[in-house]
Amino acid sequence: MIAQRLTARRLVQLLGDWRGAGHSYLELSESIALLVRDGTVPAGTALPAERPLSDTLGVSRTTVSASYQRLRERGIAHSRQGSGTVIRAPRGIAAETEAGGDGEIDLTTACPAPWQGLAALSARAFAEHPEAFQLLGYDTIGRRDLRQAIADRYSARGLPTAPEQIMVTLGAQHANYLVARTLLRRGDRSLIESPSYPNAREALVATGALVAELPVASDGYDSASILDIARRTSPHLAYLIPDHHNPTGQSMPEELRAELITTLTAQGAYVLADETTAELTLGRAGLVRPFAAAAEHAHQQDAIITVGSLGKTVWGGLRIGWIRAAPELIARLEVSRRIGDLGTGTWEQVLALLALEQYDEILAARAIEHQAQYRALAEQVAAHFPEWTMPRVRGGVSTWVDLGGHHSTRLARAGARHGVRIAPGPRFGSPGVFERFIRFPFSAPAEDLRESVLRLRAGWDADTGADRSVLAAQTVI
Ligand SMILES: Cc1ncc(COP(=O)(O)O)c(C=O)c1O
Repeated sequence: MIAQRLTARRLVQLLGDWRGAGHSYLELSESIALLVRDGTVPAGTALPAERPLSDTLGVSRTTVSASYQRLRERGIAHSRQGSGTVIRAPRGIAAETEAGGDGEIDLTTACPAPWQGLAALSARAFAEHPEAFQLLGYDTIGRRDLRQAIADRYSARGLPTAPEQIMVTLGAQHANYLVARTLLRRGDRSLIESPSYPNAREALVATGALVAELPVASDGYDSASILDIARRTSPHLAYLIPDHHNPTGQSMPEELRAELITTLTAQGAYVLADETTAELTLGRAGLVRPFAAAAEHAHQQDAIITVGSLGKTVWGGLRIGWIRAAPELIARLEVSRRIGDLGTGTWEQVLALLALEQYDEILAARAIEHQAQYRALAEQVAAHFPEWTMPRVRGGVSTWVDLGGHHSTRLARAGARHGVRIAPGPRFGSPGVFERFIRFPFSAPAEDLRESVLRLRAGWDADTGADRSVLAAQTVI
């Protein structure tokens, strides 16, 4: 099989500010390893040939050769006839990670721990729903009782909804890509916030659509420029995370919602509102008004597609999400879906149904747990990284920390050497931007968060301390 080749230009964009104070070949190989570990460069990708990469990076060919050699030695890449140096499948990489797996803290995903009541729920599901095992076992639209329960929750949150408006999916990302590939054609214009959830961006890109960006700052929204861009782009589909946005944790102001919906729908756009993190509030749970409820007219509501999931509230392992849309669009999505998958498992759906019966209780527990984790992180950051600015958030799973300098990739690499994996800022935008920011998820246990800040501090000091010793050595000479 011919591997997909990364061009030198693209790799250089993805690498961002990769140069540290150590040996260039080690810095380069570690930076590439980081891109592989966080999924930016997938297995099977062929790295650029050595000469164009050394020309584009402005380093010697020996440096590139030595860094590729190191990637091969660590099992991250291998040589393949006709393709050069190719990234290996993850199993090989996991065995060779520098921090050695054991004791490593992984903050590259923002996944809360499984909800503790899952085992009891499974026992109940088994006792109360024996019929689940007498059915086919999967379907492309969702069980009627589950769709009713999801619809009822929207109605309770202020958006009257019928089961005909709901399709149960395999999580929210499945829903995002299904909507994107059903509604977008190559060359169509689409919009996404920047930064945003990287997998959703990739779903838009995969359709061949052009992707324009709406800026979201770490501390809020510039409504005038967002409306201006929305007007000028005239997209076919706009993907938004209006509540507790990933990665910034911010929520869109009420006034902007209605105006943005009016602007976008007047141009014939669909709006895809991803509410995966919307109901995760800090401190106290409450009913969060869905984005679509901000639409002033019925025809605007028909253009809004809402995606939800139990992935962050109950458990990512359930793989239960859903789409809320006009019934005609749900029918279209169901036809489109069969090309890619044959449906959601009945057993997971039964668990989801029971979880939704206790949803308020689950969300209340999450709100307390996340508040404590967020506080632990904020205190530790204030104590050990006074140069960072960690914005206040009211919910979600992460915060977008301003590092006070453009060195996110370098910090992530320093962290990886000290047993903490964290996705650098550029992962959440177009290549090369957001070097000043890092996404810090507070979905991990408080002790892991505290320890990860200490490790990042140690890693960063070692990295910049090397800087100082180089300077000292030069002074002596
Ligand atoms: C905004 C957003 N959308 C979708 C997803 C994916 O959710 P799921 O696990 O339900 O596919 C995530 C998970 O991180 C997310 O943050």
